[in-house]
Amino acid sequence: MQRILVFGATSAIAAAACRRWAAQGARLHLVGRSAVKLEAVAASCEAGPSVTTAIADLQDMSAASELVSASLAALGGPVDVVLIAHGDLGLQLLSEREFSEAARIFEVNLLSAVALIVPLATALEDQRSGTLAVITSVAGERGRPRNYTYGAAKGGLSLYLQGVRSRLVPAGVKVTTLKLGPVDTPMTEEHPKNPLFVGAERAARDLVRAVERGAREAFIPWYWRPILAVVRNLPEAIFQRLGFLSGR
Ligand SMILES: NC(=O)c1ccc[n+]([C@@H]2O[C@H](COP(=O)([O-])OP(=O)(O)OC[C@H]3O[C@@H](n4cnc5c(N)ncnc54)[C@H](OP(=O)(O)O)[C@@H]3O)[C@@H](O)[C@H]2O)c1
Repeated sequence: MQRILVFGATSAIAAAACRRWAAQGARLHLVGRSAVKLEAVAASCEAGPSVTTAIADLQDMSAASELVSASLAALGGPVDVVLIAHGDLGLQLLSEREFSEAARIFEVNLLSAVALIVPLATALEDQRSGTLAVITSVAGERGRPRNYTYGAAKGGLSLYLQGVRSRLVPAGVKVTTLKLGPVDTPMTEEHPKNPLFVGAERAARDLVRAVERGAREAFIPWYWRPILAVVRNLPEAIFQRLGFLSGR
């Protein structure tokens, strides 16, 4: 039986992943900030042998170390997979005028994740097994006017994870960076949808598979890898002339 710990478990994508893991018989411990939403996710995982929950605002970074210890203890044995899923797109235009919004976006998408990863990486290193899986974003692959504050936070997180991954290789611990493209969830509710969008179930399916195969970096869906290979390498002068990429 797999023991799985999920931070930000009320995210639409994480919740769908939890249901998949529960159906496989995993023991789940779910952490989120909304008691009502957490209970709903736990109830939807009822096929699993046991699901426990804990409420925490993950932006309370001073509590992160204690939260990680308590969450690992709640599983009652060595953890197999930890998923960090929380995030917030924030308000790009506001973040360009008000530092407080830029700082909030960095806090929720980068610093609060690092606050969890510091104790988690050490715990997994000591355990000498397990996978740390973290959701970042294709927005972190190139700065664009549309979302560069969020993109910089997620890109910073991807880079941070690259370092953690190599650090943990000798301990036999895997680190999976999940670079998601646009997914139709509450986060993107007001965004116009295009054919590159996928649903939360599809994203969760690919996420669970990426963790299962021990991927280092997974683009979800896969087609973002070749798309980003082109977008990342476009010379800036050309990039800036392509309104669909560099416009608002
Ligand atoms: N949807 C996309 O297009 C897309 C693309 C690339 C990457 N991502 C990333 O995918 C992950 C999941 O997002 P989603 O699309 O599933 O959207 P979502 O359903 O809106 O999930 C976001 C989750 O983050 C949680 N959260 C935010 N701040 C928190 C805090 N301070 N403490 C605890 N939880 C907090 C929210 O909690 P509440 O439920 O309590 O609000 C919510 O569960 C995020 O990291 C997001 O950045 C999404």
